This record gives sequence, C-alpha cells and structure tokens, in this order.
Amino acid sequence: MNILITGGAGFIGSNLVWYFVKKYPSYRVVNLDKLTYAGNLENLEGLKGARNYVFVKGDICDREMVGQLVRDQGIDTIVNLAAESHVDRSIMGAAEFIQTNVGGTNVLLEIAKDLGIQRYVQISTDEVYGSLGPNGYFTETTPLHPNSPYAASKASADLLVFAYQHTFGVPAVVTRCSNNYGPYQFPEKLIPLMIANASNDKQLPVYGDGMNVRDWLHVRDHCAAIDAVLHRGRIGQIYNIGGNNEKHNLELVRLLLRHLGKSESLITFVKDRLGHDRRYAIDSSKIQQELGWTPSYTFEQGIEETVKWYLANRPWWERIISGEYREYYRKMYG
Ligand code: NAD
Ligand code: TYD
Repeated sequence: MNILITGGAGFIGSNLVWYFVKKYPSYRVVNLDKLTYAGNLENLEGLKGARNYVFVKGDICDREMVGQLVRDQGIDTIVNLAAESHVDRSIMGAAEFIQTNVGGTNVLLEIAKDLGIQRYVQISTDEVYGSLGPNGYFTETTPLHPNSPYAASKASADLLVFAYQHTFGVPAVVTRCSNNYGPYQFPEKLIPLMIANASNDKQLPVYGDGMNVRDWLHVRDHCAAIDAVLHRGRIGQIYNIGGNNEKHNLELVRLLLRHLGKSESLITFVKDRLGHDRRYAIDSSKIQQELGWTPSYTFEQGIEETVKWYLANRPWWERIISGEYREYYRKMYG
C-alpha cells in the first residue's frame, strides 16, 4: 500500500504517521503537510532515515502539485487529516477553515476520482453533530448540526465526500472521533494548554462555568481505529469513534493539577467561548461491533502518561509557546 497521509506533521497526523511507519514496514507512507503554525517536523524527527517514509511540504489545495505527487509516488490510498482544527481560531476568522477543510478536501476528492484511488478515508469529527443536552449520544445517524465555523467546515467536507462516493464511486469512508489527547498536541488545545500554564504557574483560563463536557480518547486509540477503518471499513459508511470518557472541563483541569502537584487556585474562569457546545458524547458501538475496535487506554493511565510526556518534553512545547503563539495567546486571552 502507498498511503498519502495529509496533515501528518500535526498532532493526530504525526501520531498516525509513526503508527503506520512502525506497524507496516511494507507500506510506503507519504506525509503531505503545509506546515502551518500547527505543523511541526520535530514530531517526526525520530523517523528520519526510515525507508518507508517520505515527507513533502505542500498545500492540499494545490491540485496540480497533489496530482503530480500522487502519480509520482504511486499513491493508492489517501487519509485526509490536513485541516485547520481549532474552534477558537475559527471564531476569530473562518476563511482558512473553508479554504483548507472544504476546498482542500474537494481537491483530494477530485484527485481520488481522476486517478483511481482505491481507498479514501476522511478524518472528521463528532463536532459535526452539534451539542447534546445532559442525556443521549451521537450515533452515525444523528443529523448534522454544526455550530462553530470549524464544525461547519468539517460537516461541509463530509457532505462532499458522500457526494463523490455516491456520484463518482470514490471509495470513501468517514470517521468521526471525539476529543483526542496525548503527545504532540499543540498547546492551544485544552489539555496541553493547561499543562503548560500550570507548569509555569500561570493562570488556567476555564471558559464559562467549566461544566461543558467532552469525551476524551487517547490519540493512539484513534490511530488504531483509523487503521481498522482503512483496512476493513465499508465504503460509503461513517464510523463514530469515542473513548466513553465523559468529563466536564473543570473536573479534567483539577485532575491535571493533581498530577502536576499544583494548586487549584491557578484556575481562573474567563468569558465563555461564543456558541460553546455544551456536551459531546459518542456511541461507538458500530465500529466496535463491525470492526472489533475498542480503546486500549483507560483514561487514568492515558492522562498520567500524557502529563509525564509533557513534563519530559518541555523544550518541545516551550519552543512553541515562545514563538508566534504568544501573539495568539494575547489576542485570545488578553
Ligand atoms: P492539528 O491542527 O494539530 O494539525 C493539522 C495539520 O494539518 C498541521 O500539521 C497543518 O500544518 C496541516 N495543514 C493545515 N492546512 C493544510 C493544508 N492546506 N495543506 C496541507 N496541510 C495542512 O490538527 P489535529 O488535532 O491533529 O487534527 C487532525 C484532523 O483530525 C483534523 O482534520 C481534525 O478536524 C480531526 N479531528 C481532530 C480531533 C482532535 O481532538 N484534535 C478530533 C476529531 C477529529
Ligand atoms: P478544545 O481543546 O479547544 O477542543 P474542542 O473545543 O474542539 O472540544 O476545548 C475543549 C474544551 O475546553 C471546550 O469545552 C473548551 C474548553 N476550553 C477552556 O475552557 N479553556 C481553554 O483555554 C481552552 C483552549 C478550551
């Protein structure tokens, strides 16, 4: 298999590149990434010299370049993770979200159609379903109700994927996963942001009342789920992926503080995110029953390991938060 992984220098993408390069030495993994603020080749330094791995810098919106790459590398499989991924940034400005998440997906689908790609996996998100009340779960048949510009761009991309599958027979599958955590997550997202701030005795900005609920899944469990869908998922299907680990934000932040040995007095309640989704929760029985996937990490083990990783890899995130991130942080948190 010759796999094109897009967005492979980001958080989930770099974990997935590692996963495939190590698990399938006979596959060739081509990582195409634009290296936006969120892309970081340090995540992949350990793969330098691997025979079955190639990195290419480029934009998924560039049809000519991507088409040429697919031909040159004999790509037969595409896993699309390239995206603008942060809800707060999509609220500040949505243009790049539409361009990459919608326009870029369309380019990849055109290429999949024209060049006879044998399998296309679109990495989507549970955020396309909108927000839940205190009860119930998202299933694959829950109607789309995206609330943020980010979620709307991902839902739009999903609709394009289904249209290309239906109309042109592009052999596509869509996965919709809950919130990931683990190594190499950019420190704009809740868990690494709180670990970095607490480590530096900075305040921890909790939005609103801190009672919004997310379902957390370790990134390596997400990679295993993508592996299952890539090899055994049925064309035209959606697979929800979740950790069955619902936590409200305050509970999670307190847990991180306990692991870090820091005081809860660091917690500061700040203005709520606009349109903030209250609760996400995933019913992953379809992927469990059909493809036999189950998460392997317990939340306790995953969080402990993750906190240890950020403590052991302080230079990795210190380099990020001392760069252009400072300007983002100032704009976002004042
Ligand atoms: P990330 O922001 O860490 O990484 C995104 C990567 O995409 C970066 O390396 C960036 O350089 C690259 N990229 C952006 N625009 C590009 C373009 N035009 N061309 C090529 N590369 C480009 O994101 P992530 O958290 O790793 O998320 C990856 C995917 O998984 C996204 O599609 C996201 O919607 C989805 N997802 C994320 C989560 C989560 O909890 N993080 C959950 C469910 C689904
Ligand atoms: P985030 O990691 O941005 O993921 P998403 O919004 O895609 O679920 O945020 C997770 C939750 O944490 C969400 O309810 C918003 C909240 N949050 C804060 O309270 N403070 C913060 O500084 C951030 C980044 C997030």
